[in-house]
Amino acid sequence: MSMKANMIVDKDFQIGEVDPRIYGSFIEHLGRAVYGGIYEPGHSQADEQGFRTDVLELVKGLDVPIVRYPGGNFVSGYNWEDGVGPLEQRKKRLELAWRTIEPNLFGLNEFMDWCRKANTQAMMAVNLGTRGPDQARELVEYSNHPSGSYWSDLRISHGYKEAHNIKTWCLGNEMDGPWQIGSKTAVEYGRIACETAKVMKWVDPTIELVACGSSALSMPTFPEWESTILEHTYDHVDYISLHQYYGNRDNDSANFLAQSLGMDKFINTVIATADYVQAKKRGKKKINLSFDEWNVWYHSNAADRKIEPWTVAPPQLEDIYNHEDALLVGCMLISMLKRADRVKMACMAQLVNVIAPIMTANGGAAWKQTIYYPYMHASVFGRGTVLVPLIKSPKYDAKDYTDVPYLEAVAVHNEQNSEVTIFAVNRHLQEALPLELDLRSFGTSRVIEHIVLENDDLKAANTLDAQDQVKPHTGGNAAVSGSGQVQAVLAKASWNVIRLKLAD
Ligand code: AHR
Repeated sequence: MSMKANMIVDKDFQIGEVDPRIYGSFIEHLGRAVYGGIYEPGHSQADEQGFRTDVLELVKGLDVPIVRYPGGNFVSGYNWEDGVGPLEQRKKRLELAWRTIEPNLFGLNEFMDWCRKANTQAMMAVNLGTRGPDQARELVEYSNHPSGSYWSDLRISHGYKEAHNIKTWCLGNEMDGPWQIGSKTAVEYGRIACETAKVMKWVDPTIELVACGSSALSMPTFPEWESTILEHTYDHVDYISLHQYYGNRDNDSANFLAQSLGMDKFINTVIATADYVQAKKRGKKKINLSFDEWNVWYHSNAADRKIEPWTVAPPQLEDIYNHEDALLVGCMLISMLKRADRVKMACMAQLVNVIAPIMTANGGAAWKQTIYYPYMHASVFGRGTVLVPLIKSPKYDAKDYTDVPYLEAVAVHNEQNSEVTIFAVNRHLQEALPLELDLRSFGTSRVIEHIVLENDDLKAANTLDAQDQVKPHTGGNAAVSGSGQVQAVLAKASWNVIRLKLAD
């Protein structure tokens, strides 16, 4: 087998525009995401509202366009009213999804203030576990109605004269999962989601709604669930959600890195199912995809089983990510870019401390996990038009996947900046992969930089005491070899960002 890959892209062969919201993230009331993560009054770096400015700086480095809130499983037992109004009147609650105490010191209005400081927008979820249309429409009224009604005037009395104008709303969370508070059959969920969607849009017709898809590709009800719930909600919703987490539980890294092929399959099947319902409805509207939970999640599973219930903000889901996790995250980002025509929103789950690119110590430092880097590179450089990647790559067979290409890659053309950026992962764990890039119609270009994330140790990680064990360098060897031709050697087990400036 020859270890060499070829990739052809042409500026006229396009997949679609990148919706910047595919670089979204997620803050749930879970573990130390809120308390000790984005919010820690008394911390030396906290601002006057208790928001950690060191964390805000790291969030801004990711250029996150949208953040989902307040859950996750948490939302299915949440009374949003508990989180608004004077702090001293807020109730402490038993939180059943994660078995903690929720102090409600941070809620909707604090989150919206935090979003403004983080230069991001909110994607708000409503509780369809223990609640329904009534509380959802009241929440939209509280958040988005200007004034002159009970809930909008209550917001004003809480110090928020201007409406928050939250545009994107999730109709519940993972309602197919037996672990969910108030989980439902597809018909039960389809009905309540439809009725909730109607009244939410009657309060504010400018909002967009996301219906809950299956909690994972492996759910036994997939894709029947998608088909049934969309038949109920098609006329009232705009997106369907997908969630997927991966792990390397058997310590089989070749198989682990192949898992984004499952993500490709998941995305393509949800698109096919959404289009099937559109056809049945004789509808004009395409239902697009919101991949609003995705990441690697498994390192913390054993530790989480030992956590005592009913404490405030215990260290739950604190995966410490290693180099190979960053590679799979890179592959997952490429998977979503390859369907930029239909994946319009996505949220890396989550943002701080809880399965997150950013970690903090209570009262101490904040630092970047390995997965921060591919996420940041894609978000900062992956804006523009995704081009159809024609790829010839050597392949391998893994335990669960066959014909896995060593090269996973995609190209994004940013016309405004006259740049083309290639994101590429070499999945080969022992060998470098020579890559010939044919950019045809783009003609002359120069390499701005070739960023590489590589490490001899797949398990190397960044920790409080060693925050820079894994970090990218710009010493990649991509070079122009002729008009429209670029060559590079991708290091074994590496994430690569090849940035090209096009001649005017
Ligand atoms: O992101 C962690 C959890 O994973 C979310 O609360 C839930 O939606 C999913 O199962």
